[in-house]
Amino acid sequence: MKKFKEIKPTEITDNVFKLLDKDWMLVTAGTLEDYNTMTASWGHMGILWNLPVAIAYIRPQRHTYGFANRYGDYTLSFFTEAYRSALQFCGTRSGRDCDKAAETGLTAIQTQRGNVIFQEARLVLECRKIYEDNLKKKNFLLPEVAKKNYPKNDFHRFYMGEIVRKRERYFNQDLHQPLQVDPSLVSSYEIPEIFPGDA
Ligand SMILES: Cc1cc2nc3c(=O)[nH]c(=O)nc-3n(C[C@H](O)[C@H](O)[C@H](O)COP(=O)(O)O)c2cc1C
Repeated sequence: MKKFKEIKPTEITDNVFKLLDKDWMLVTAGTLEDYNTMTASWGHMGILWNLPVAIAYIRPQRHTYGFANRYGDYTLSFFTEAYRSALQFCGTRSGRDCDKAAETGLTAIQTQRGNVIFQEARLVLECRKIYEDNLKKKNFLLPEVAKKNYPKNDFHRFYMGEIVRKRERYFNQDLHQPLQVDPSLVSSYEIPEIFPGDA
């Protein structure tokens, strides 16, 4: 834990568009005894209600969905390119069927708030949920966007969370060592063509 240091939201120097669209993140909810994590690339970071917030979108069929609904917080973990295969794994396999940390070698650790983050992450945001709701078909002003992204009507639920300003926000510049992921696992979870265009 001591390898992380707390930073203020204004000290995040990453380009948010790259961070989400290209780097991806792990959205995690729950405690060490009861958590799930999944890869996500859709979201926002910004200011709302005069607070620094991060917003994540989770489809109802994800195993992570139940955890995000049950728990008051969620965390967003960002990694260097060295962990791409781990993120591919967490974005194509469900926590219903496997232990993602065990399979990828990622180390889940608990924060003081009781949330789960990953030791190997280079940037972690801990978010306290303030508002959540489902996207609704009837509210799309451009119906073609809904049609294209939700052919199965599996509209995302979105979670707006305050990026909490305590010691729980960590930044790690030192842990850039590649993970030793079993190559046989990597080849078996090619990203389906629908990702990330259909997150
Ligand atoms: C690059 C990438 C981005 C993704 N973004 C999202 C997203 O923003 N929201 C979402 O619901 N699923 C997204 N997914 C899909 C989930 O990560 C995937 O379905 C995962 O297996 C769900 O795991 P779970 O069932 O353990 O929750 C993404 C997948 C990838 C590979």
